[in-house]
Amino acid sequence: MKTCRLSRASVAIAAIAATFVAVAAQHGAASADASLSEHMHRHMSSIRAVKQFIIAGQIDGMREPAVWLAEHEPASDLPAGWEPYVTELRQHALDTAFANHLVFAAASLSEMARTCGDCHRANNVSGVVDDATRPAPEGDSVRVQMRRHLWAADRMWEGLIGPSDNAWNDGIGVLASVDVESADIGALPEQEPKVDYLLTRVRELGELGGEADSSETRSAVYGEFLSLCADCHSWTGGGPAVP
Ligand code: HEC
Ligand code: HEC
Repeated sequence: MKTCRLSRASVAIAAIAATFVAVAAQHGAASADASLSEHMHRHMSSIRAVKQFIIAGQIDGMREPAVWLAEHEPASDLPAGWEPYVTELRQHALDTAFANHLVFAAASLSEMARTCGDCHRANNVSGVVDDATRPAPEGDSVRVQMRRHLWAADRMWEGLIGPSDNAWNDGIGVLASVDVESADIGALPEQEPKVDYLLTRVRELGELGGEADSSETRSAVYGEFLSLCADCHSWTGGGPAVP
């Protein structure tokens, strides 16, 4: 039993390491000369893909973009004092890429978003991804309520990366009004206690998030919050489409 589990683990690690090398080789050279803005947009699409896979509860899908974030060459025109932020970003990306559970992946991803926001703040840049024009979906069906969850998750995310207090608080505001019961999502009777717990915890985190006013506490709230989406989706088979 023990050997079997070990060899399965080493096969998985070998597969990840192979992706790691291939992805690094593919992206390293190409991005060395990219302008800072282009580079930031590449960051954005990779980190967004990681988030979408985690919300959907699909741990394997998020490894490749997380490896890219850990391994790519930094842009050549980064602002002065970039090094500690980039080192920290890479460490969190690596922790995400190699996470053996969605809970850890969600926490590390959240720390990545916080690090982006911390460097922006240090450089007097804010709201880089703030989209206040996108309306929250309206309606009572479970699907619409779930889309409201997602809308909130995306606004809070913009709040962390931007950074932007408005974006964070918009997300928290919509989260407070999401209304789903375990009976609505067709949970089997034996699933109900856990589903109830997850839904209650989502609401509690909404309240905690409203009080969190430092990037560290927001990141802690956000990491746990995403892990709840991931947990329920991987468990019930529900959840949004992946990139
Ligand atoms: C070393 C500091 C630093 C880190 C780390 C950093 N950024 Fe940035 N980012 C900047 C600066 C400075 C700008 C403003 C660039 C400019 O003048 O256009 C910026 C701008 C941006 C923009 C706007 C680009 C544009 O011109 O439209 C986006 C999007 C962005 N960052 C995303 C991210 C994401 C996502 C991360 C984390 C994965 C991240 N950044 C990490 C320093 C950083
Ligand atoms: C307790 C379980 C549970 C939790 C927690 C949960 N979801 Fe869901 N989610 C589901 C189920 C079940 C479905 C499938 C619903 C259906 O298709 O009728 C779903 C579907 C979705 C969809 C697809 C809706 C559509 O358009 O079909 C999105 C988006 C979504 N969830 C986002 C989220 C986000 C973001 C979170 C975290 C804040 C979250 N969910 C938390 C159970 C959950």
